Parts: sequence; C-alpha cells; structure tokens
Amino acid sequence: MNPGTAPRSVVIGCGGYLPAKVVANRDLESSMETSDDWIVERTGIRQRYIAADGELTSDLAIAASRAALADAGIDASEVDLVVVATTTPDQTFPATATRVQAGLGMVAGIAFDVQAVCSGFVYAMAIADNFLRVGQARTALVIGAETFSRLLDWSDRGSAVLFGDGAGAVLLRAEADPRDGQGRPRGILSTHLHADGRFNEALHTDGGPSSTPGRVGVVKMNGREVFRHAVEKLSSVVEEALAANALAPSQVDWLVPHQANRRIIDGMARKLGLPPERVVVTVDRHANTSAASIPLALWEATRERRFARGDVVLLEAIGGGLTWGACVIRW
Ligand code: COA
Repeated sequence: MNPGTAPRSVVIGCGGYLPAKVVANRDLESSMETSDDWIVERTGIRQRYIAADGELTSDLAIAASRAALADAGIDASEVDLVVVATTTPDQTFPATATRVQAGLGMVAGIAFDVQAVCSGFVYAMAIADNFLRVGQARTALVIGAETFSRLLDWSDRGSAVLFGDGAGAVLLRAEADPRDGQGRPRGILSTHLHADGRFNEALHTDGGPSSTPGRVGVVKMNGREVFRHAVEKLSSVVEEALAANALAPSQVDWLVPHQANRRIIDGMARKLGLPPERVVVTVDRHANTSAASIPLALWEATRERRFARGDVVLLEAIGGGLTWGACVIRW
C-alpha cells in the first residue's frame, strides 16, 4: 500500500450456503391456517430453507466462508478480521465468529459478532470497512449467518411464514486507491447506519439471557408497522447514500436489498427507476434469512456474473431495533 494513500475495501470473493431441506409454502398449509396464494401475494415468498437438527449457525457460516475463500483464491490464514452478523448465535457467548475462525483453521486475528438483526450485514460491512480503512486489518471475512427458524413461533402464521435459514460471506481486502477501467474509485464508497430504539416493540423476541434466563424467546412482530417503517426508512437512507456519492438514481446499476418482502423490494426499485432485471431478488426462494439475505443475494449475483467492473451496487436493509442502513459499492 502506498504510504499516504487512503485504502479502500474491495470485494475479492463471495460465498454462500443454504441448508439441504426446502420447505415450500404448501408444506406449511398442513400445520397452520395459511395458503400458498396468501404468502405469495403478500410477500413473494414461495419456499425457504431450514437447517437440519444439530446444524448450527457456525456450520452454515463456515460453509459460506469456504466458498468465499475459494472464490477469492486465498487461504484462511490471510484473513485477519472475522465479523459475523447474526441474531442466532450458536451460544450466548463466545461469539460465533470465534467458532468460524477455529473452524477455518485460523489461529490469529480479530473475531466478533454484530447484532443488528436484518440490518446486521450492512452494519458488519460498515464496521469491517472502517477497520480496513484505518489499517487495523487487511483482509476481512464479513458473514451474515442465521438459523432464524429456531426463533420462530410456528403457531404465529403472521411471522413464521416469512423467515428461513442460510449464510452468505464476503471477503474484503484493503487496497490502496483502487480504480475501475475509467479511473473511478472502486470498492466500498460509503456506508450509512441508523438505529431508533423507540421501535423495539415492532419487531423483537419476547426473551433473552438477561430478561428471561434459560429461555431465548420467539419472534414477535407487528407486520404492518414494520412494513410502514421499511418503506419510509429505506427510502430515506437510500437518498442519503446517493447524495453522499453525488449519484443520481439512474447511476445505480444494481440494487441488492435485504430480502424481506417482494412488495418492499419492488417499491424501492420503482423509486430508483430501476428495471426488475437490475434488482437482485432471492426472497422467492430463500424467504427472509435476516443478516444472511444480502450476502446470499451477492453470492447468487456473482455466481451468475451479473456485476461488471465499475458497476454501482447499492445494498440496503432494515431490521429489529429498529436498525437500518445502506452501503454503496463500486464493483
Ligand atoms: N396466512 C394467511 N393469513 C394470514 C397470514 C398467513 N400466513 N398472516 C396473517 N394473515 C391474516 C391476518 O390474520 C389478517 O387477517 P384478518 O384480517 O382476519 O385479521 C390478514 O391476513 C391481513 O393481515 P395483515 O397483517 O394486515 O396483512 P399484511 O398485508 O400487512 O401482510 C405481512 C402481512 C407480514 C406480510 C406484511 O405486513 C409484511 O410483510 N410486513 C413486513 C414484515 C417484515 O418484512 N418483517 C421483517 C423485516 S426485517
């Protein structure tokens, strides 16, 4: 790295992992009063993946990380920062990131978890980017991994049908003044994070280690309220992210949104004037995998070679907290 040149974080690899078991909407019809038609119409979800008994968040995260390392063509020993965004850690402590680190055979570096629910991956990207920019790490493994199905109340049809399990991983490397073919700065251009704890009740679990010792709790959600906040807060953080980079909506090449609900995704795409083929959508097959949804979508898009060097890729997410954020990357 040239002394005096501020480094930027460049994506050098993406990976993902989905459990083997697929649960279609129709499979839920026998255990709760719901229908494939209702779920598809209100959410766009057709199926979700569910982790096997004994399959842990760290197992999913390690598989996704291995895929990302293979994609980047680097060894785990080159990673010096592991950040896992998760709401469903293997253990209350230590951090799932340390299990991932050990599982990959790493014996050094920094490893910790980030808890921002469905915004977790955007939060983790921002944190890792800051570590890389100040030179505290060089190669970061940023993971979103969830066994969210374990937090669901399967008797609550209003929330249980929405979520699934999975993991995605991105490798970031600090590079001095990286540029695309047209001389424009590439890598993470900016990140924008927000939280407002007044809205805890909109989306939360009814337990946790401190409030209900011995019981982790299950998801409680006011769907309509979350929907309303999602539309309003995602619009405002996207405007903020574009303004920070002096980008017009027409200059966004790809929207990679958190995959919660097809109607929210389509609304954001319309607002940006993006045609459907420029929006990465996985919610139909993955459902909402919380912190894993964006890195899984990135994995899918990169496997299909959809992004070209120099493309502007916009990530946005909202989740419990409420927390929300965006990240602008020039690929
Ligand atoms: N199957 C069938 N009917 C269902 C159902 C299901 N799975 N879930 C709820 N319903 C019923 C409700 O009980 C209600 O019936 P009622 O009118 O007899 O009381 C009716 O469908 C409408 O419910 P409502 O909650 O108003 O529907 P909605 O159009 O708001 O859609 C969500 C519900 C959850 C799909 C929608 O609010 C949503 O997607 N919100 C955002 C949630 C989210 O993304 N959370 C994660 C953020 S990270």
